[in-house]
Amino acid sequence: MTALVIDNIGLLVTAEPSLGEGPLGVTRDAALVLDGERVLSIEPAGAAGDERLDAGGRCVIPGFVDSHTHLVFAGDRADEFAARMAGRPYAASGIRVTTTATRAATEDELRELARSRRAEALRAGVTHIEIKSGYGLEVETERRSCAVAAELTDDVTFLGAHVVPPEYEARAGEYVELVCGEMLDACRPYARWIDVFCEEGAFDPDQSRAVLEAGRAAGLGLRVHGNQLGFGAGASLAAELGAASVDHCTYLSDDDVDALAAGDTVATFLPATDFSTRQPYPDARRVIDAGAQVAIATNCNPGSSYTTAMAFCIALAVRDLGMTPEEALLAATRGGARALQRDDVGRLIPGARADVVILDCPSYTHLVYRPGVPLVAAVLTRGRIEFSDPWRLR
Ligand code: NIG
Repeated sequence: MTALVIDNIGLLVTAEPSLGEGPLGVTRDAALVLDGERVLSIEPAGAAGDERLDAGGRCVIPGFVDSHTHLVFAGDRADEFAARMAGRPYAASGIRVTTTATRAATEDELRELARSRRAEALRAGVTHIEIKSGYGLEVETERRSCAVAAELTDDVTFLGAHVVPPEYEARAGEYVELVCGEMLDACRPYARWIDVFCEEGAFDPDQSRAVLEAGRAAGLGLRVHGNQLGFGAGASLAAELGAASVDHCTYLSDDDVDALAAGDTVATFLPATDFSTRQPYPDARRVIDAGAQVAIATNCNPGSSYTTAMAFCIALAVRDLGMTPEEALLAATRGGARALQRDDVGRLIPGARADVVILDCPSYTHLVYRPGVPLVAAVLTRGRIEFSDPWRLR
């Protein structure tokens, strides 16, 4: 195997405290030695290798791990966003607009749309991604959404329980039976996870529990959308059932925070969603100080958060959720990996996947300090350069 050395790194973030200074385990004037798809070692600058990539004194970080996205959909809801900016509140029922467009799309069309969004995320530094279904809401479209997602990641989440589709209006119980039966059987071969939107207007706690238990019985790991639009049972249910993650966490009670701190369920914040829906920003500081594990993710979807920009989420997490830049970067890398129960991504340690981002700036603080500026100069996934910006690397 040929060793590629990323040399002349001004500041290397390993995201592993034992490998350097502070919570991010940083080292200065370093070289990162890659052996094929894996990290081999961290050395002082000038290390030998078969090939050399000069980072030019820039900051190098682990690729972002985006643990919550809905990339498989058709249609556009820019008008809904504009109406929201003019004062109309966000409503979960908007999901049905996307469902109509997604059902009408062919598998090839969905594949093309999802691939282009995945490519956009890669350019933004996302090297590992979770992708949900959830805009089909009938067996065949959920199945093809999962199939398309499985071509792009091994972290596919079956989200048949996103909302009750119009044809099951007033028959939510029957829809839950479909999700837990035929739809789960059709999607199970492509999925690692099952998710449910546990919220008023979507699924109540009993329905949510039924979905999660059916998924668990089918061998899937558990994820929950909860506490997005108001206080509710999502976080406590996720903690009780040992879900990997509860996502949104915009409205958490003290009991929710205690339950999350007492268990292993990661509290995943989606700050671009609160931005786009004009919800209040949650207090991540309170959750971190209580001892819970946290992550941040983009929640890229057409309704509540149409962005693939993890750097924007990091900036919001620092500016508005009360995280430090170090906590926010950890939440977007190692935190995302934890939320997906993975230890092969989110850190640059020997043996980890060689998923690396070179930033065109001297430190990761610039992700927050220069919001909206595309600072990603190059992205390597499994040791291969997948994106590079010649202007930034000049
Ligand atoms: O995570 N909350 C539920 N699902 C998405 C919203 C989807 C939509 O509005 O289309 C979310 O925000």
